[in-house]
Amino acid sequence: MRSRLSLAGLPLDRRAELPLYQQLAAALRPRILDGSLPAGTRLPGSRAMAVELGCSRAIVQAACDLLYAEGYLQSTPRGGVRIAAVAKGDAPAAGEQPAPRLSGRWQAMLDIDYVSDLGSPFSSGTPDLEEFPFELWARLLRQSWQKPRADLCRAMSPLGWAPLRAATAEYLGAVRGLLCRPEEVVITPASAGALDLCCRMLLDPGDEVWVEEPGFIEARSSLLAAGARLVPVPVDGKGLVVAEGIRRAPKARLAVVTPSHQFPLGIAMALDRRLELLDWARRQESWIIEDDYNSEFRHRESMAAALKSLDRSGRVIYLGTFSKVMLPSLRLGYLVAHPGFVEAFGRGRARIDVHSAGTAQPALAAFLSEGHLLRYLRRMRKLYAARQQAVLAAIDELLPDLLEVAPTAAGLHLTALFTPAMAARMTDREASARSGQAGNYIQPLSQCYLGPPDRQGLVIGYGRLRAEEAQPRLAAVAARLRA
Ligand SMILES: Cc1ncc(COP(=O)(O)O)c(C=O)c1O
Repeated sequence: MRSRLSLAGLPLDRRAELPLYQQLAAALRPRILDGSLPAGTRLPGSRAMAVELGCSRAIVQAACDLLYAEGYLQSTPRGGVRIAAVAKGDAPAAGEQPAPRLSGRWQAMLDIDYVSDLGSPFSSGTPDLEEFPFELWARLLRQSWQKPRADLCRAMSPLGWAPLRAATAEYLGAVRGLLCRPEEVVITPASAGALDLCCRMLLDPGDEVWVEEPGFIEARSSLLAAGARLVPVPVDGKGLVVAEGIRRAPKARLAVVTPSHQFPLGIAMALDRRLELLDWARRQESWIIEDDYNSEFRHRESMAAALKSLDRSGRVIYLGTFSKVMLPSLRLGYLVAHPGFVEAFGRGRARIDVHSAGTAQPALAAFLSEGHLLRYLRRMRKLYAARQQAVLAAIDELLPDLLEVAPTAAGLHLTALFTPAMAARMTDREASARSGQAGNYIQPLSQCYLGPPDRQGLVIGYGRLRAEEAQPRLAAVAARLRA
């Protein structure tokens, strides 16, 4: 005997947006899939169902028509309707969540031992937003969207909005002395997005890539996700030790570097190392990704020039971002590369994510070309230089025996190295955990290493730390470190 269908307990809500017939179908589907309404169960007539459910026959009929069309119901030879035999294998048990089985590359990326400092007052990558000219920014957004040009509403070029490419080329000349043409500039989803696209374009699984040791941990994510084999190359007082990179992986496809002020140590790469690196890339036909993060915030006139300015063979891909000089949520940045690279990049990108979001690109172009960004930067440089000074002074007063720190030429952070006395007390991970207990989490330097760290220290960001907060917050940290 086939069982009869019971409709008791089916939830139909007359106030809901979803029409009643769809609610009825939605309530029946999972019961059919999980077998609680077994295949072969005969449906009562639509009139009887309507009475049981307290709704009209038309609703029952529409729900059955939908389920019939979707294959959940079958007609019988005598004109009745039954539950169809559907494969139960696909149906998850009630409450069961599918556990994603990730690719080995993605899992390797997630397995990096890393604690973000983004919420902390000492975050190394968070700019101050209190001074940002939001009214002006809103006016520029309105200007471009009140009566938008037709080409602003359609898909854009994969290389970015042409006026923004031109304005970025001009901006780089003014701010970094980097002379480039608009055709060499591509607008990207900030520098992380640019790096990710470059990895897909240039790397095959198993390719070797030089990364700075210590280095920017987030950059390793895209490299691992592309299946690269990371080769840590040490950094000394002159920057990346190129000879060691050549010894460890002479045929690496790519080197990812921060030559202007190394992340996290703040060292500027010496000229002989720069020339050695360029020479290696030219001979091996390898690529150099220059991450020129935060160089706009220079605190000294003697700030090192971009490596890209020395590039005669077109092997350097220069990355920059508007995340720090403007707003982190903007997610717009740029790369500057040889026109041959740009052309291949654009053709590939047209088939992946097409282009970076276009909404803000015209406003950003105006923000640059009307000189607002340069004016804003001048203000922010002074503010960040004062914050750096305040952190240096507080360390000098509170922790001179435990931390060694030197001013850096640019950026939003300092790296304080442990003195032997501090290293004898605790590891930097322990120090970092103690700073967190004082509500002032500071990243440990060892987190920036791929292998065993050869230095211990703290990476102290001051982008969103008011100068007057430096002393009291570092005093709270110092108390924990000395406890
Ligand atoms: C070394 C380094 N590179 C790049 C970036 C910028 O990343 P994005 O442009 O993706 O925001 C940061 C930000 O923290 C950084 O510290």
